[in-house]
Amino acid sequence: MDRKTLADVDPSGKLCFVRVDFNVPLENGKITDDTRIVAALPTIQRLRDAGAKVVLASHLGRPKGKRADKYSLRPCAERLQQLLDCPVKFLDDCIDSSYAEVSKAVDGMAAGDVILLENTRFHAGEESKDEAEMKAFAEKLALGGKYELYVNDAFGTCHRKHASMYGVPQFVENCVAGLLVEREVTMLGRLLEAPRQGFVAILGGAKVDDKIGVVKALLPRVEKLLIGGAMAWAFLKARGTEIGESLCVPESLAAAEEILATEGKHLHKLVLPEDVHMKRVNAGGGEMKYVPYFHIRPGWNALDIGVQTRQRFSEIISKAKNVFWNGPMGYFEKPPFDEGTLAVAQAVAACTGYTVVGGGDSVAAVTHMGLAEKIDHVSTGGGASLEFIEAGGRLPAIEVLDPR
Ligand code: 3PG
Repeated sequence: MDRKTLADVDPSGKLCFVRVDFNVPLENGKITDDTRIVAALPTIQRLRDAGAKVVLASHLGRPKGKRADKYSLRPCAERLQQLLDCPVKFLDDCIDSSYAEVSKAVDGMAAGDVILLENTRFHAGEESKDEAEMKAFAEKLALGGKYELYVNDAFGTCHRKHASMYGVPQFVENCVAGLLVEREVTMLGRLLEAPRQGFVAILGGAKVDDKIGVVKALLPRVEKLLIGGAMAWAFLKARGTEIGESLCVPESLAAAEEILATEGKHLHKLVLPEDVHMKRVNAGGGEMKYVPYFHIRPGWNALDIGVQTRQRFSEIISKAKNVFWNGPMGYFEKPPFDEGTLAVAQAVAACTGYTVVGGGDSVAAVTHMGLAEKIDHVSTGGGASLEFIEAGGRLPAIEVLDPR
């Protein structure tokens, strides 16, 4: 870690702006998975123990610059209060406005107090591509320079050049990484040093265009790159295979075609599904079958990798020395099409090499099966972990922290 961390500063009594990633799933206002809140506890607790005043900021969902109740962070304040077993004051806005007087609340804080600000994405300035607008909003978040310490503990958002991640540090003198960010960088960083021999990456999910950069970055680094889920259908189609009605948006097809055209010397490392589990479209009785990939026909929809592919992937994973997995192998939300993803989860958990899993569905699969403890590192970042690998460990919101 070439940036300063909490270990490099004395937060005693300091007013701290702490960017966390409380972008948790909610159903009817109830948090269905609090992993990300739990992951931020060590940093919050460390600061409180030192008598710091802790002001937390986060985004939740994609409200696109507008206030929307369903994206309020209020449920997170309640959950955090239970977890910390101390009062957490929730403010209805993240900047001074008719909703909240942040400056006044902050001025009234005592050592160890915790405030959670409302969703930063209720303001267009948070995600603005216009540098001046982004900075102007960051200055408001930073209360014009009132904070004494900025702590970035929002690993899941470190790939975003947003005001609270990238702009606020420009208005605070001391800016460091929190314990979660430090751990993520250390654990994911090990993969960047892994020898090619024995390094197996597994990618899945719906879209190749989102992952084109990481596929290109991984290919030279790995011994094998296993591809499942709708990403695989795009590669099959790009190779001229009939994929029937299987999910493949034009951008994904174009991205797969580009990889096949440009990555010639690494293509032998790509391992695509040999067989698939598919379903007849509009089948009243839900007709399903396993077929070799070259037997997918019009009117059929591949929704998961097949049994032979699961075996082959598991065998490759079992021999790996380093494993990185991001993205489901099929339509994970709809059993029985979760079976490929669950088989990969089991294989990764059983692997004796160094294993890292990132991304919502893959993490959900290992957690759901009670396998998380058998994985060396379960990342809180989906997109962030991919971009970390793609960019060789450099993420914009980490780069702006103080160098060592
Ligand atoms: C995530 O869930 O990956 C992070 O919280 C970032 O969210 P975003 O993709 O909406 O920027």
